[in-house]
Amino acid sequence: MARLGYAPYDISAAEMRFVVGATTGRYGRVAVDAGCGLGGFSRRLRRLGYHVTGIDYSECSLEVARAVGHGPQLRYLCADLDDGVPPSLPQHGVDLVVARTVVPFLAKPVEWLHEVRDWWLAPGGQVYLVVPISQQPFQTGHLTPTEIDVLCSGWQVKRRDVDGVAWISLRPNTP
Ligand SMILES: C[S@@+](CC[C@H](N)C(=O)[O-])C[C@H]1O[C@@H](n2cnc3c(N)ncnc32)[C@H](O)[C@@H]1O
Repeated sequence: MARLGYAPYDISAAEMRFVVGATTGRYGRVAVDAGCGLGGFSRRLRRLGYHVTGIDYSECSLEVARAVGHGPQLRYLCADLDDGVPPSLPQHGVDLVVARTVVPFLAKPVEWLHEVRDWWLAPGGQVYLVVPISQQPFQTGHLTPTEIDVLCSGWQVKRRDVDGVAWISLRPNTP
């Protein structure tokens, strides 16, 4: 599928407006695109001025992503998100962590988000998730509305639902 360039959820202009509106920043920000797949969103982040690391455990997808272009400010890393913080990421050094249609595939989505908050994010950092919504539990790659509420609990949330998909911007609650 990766070699055919299959990316299941298109990145629309409306989604990019949501992302830009929900994120604040300065030049030189650091972003991680977790579960980057073919790197479509990683490249969008680069165009927004971020220094980007795309992470995926599929070497095949990363090969396709790298073939489109990579360099010091857009790099790709093969790692399993379920294995903890990849050693080459700066701890407490990431301004924006993106996970587009990835979190439902992780072994422990809530715990992973806590790890992102506690170890990955720089002060003032935030998270952007895209989560396909299902009304029935155990639908692969989806979460139910209740599961999404649990995922977002304890965060400051901006959310928009479009065509059965939730765009979610999260900021850690200030202590
Ligand atoms: C539905 S695709 C989404 C790809 C990309 N984020 C996008 O928006 O097009 C899910 C991606 O997450 C990756 N993935 C799933 N579980 C992962 C894990 N535990 N560690 C790293 N990557 C993972 C898959 O290899 C796949 O590329």
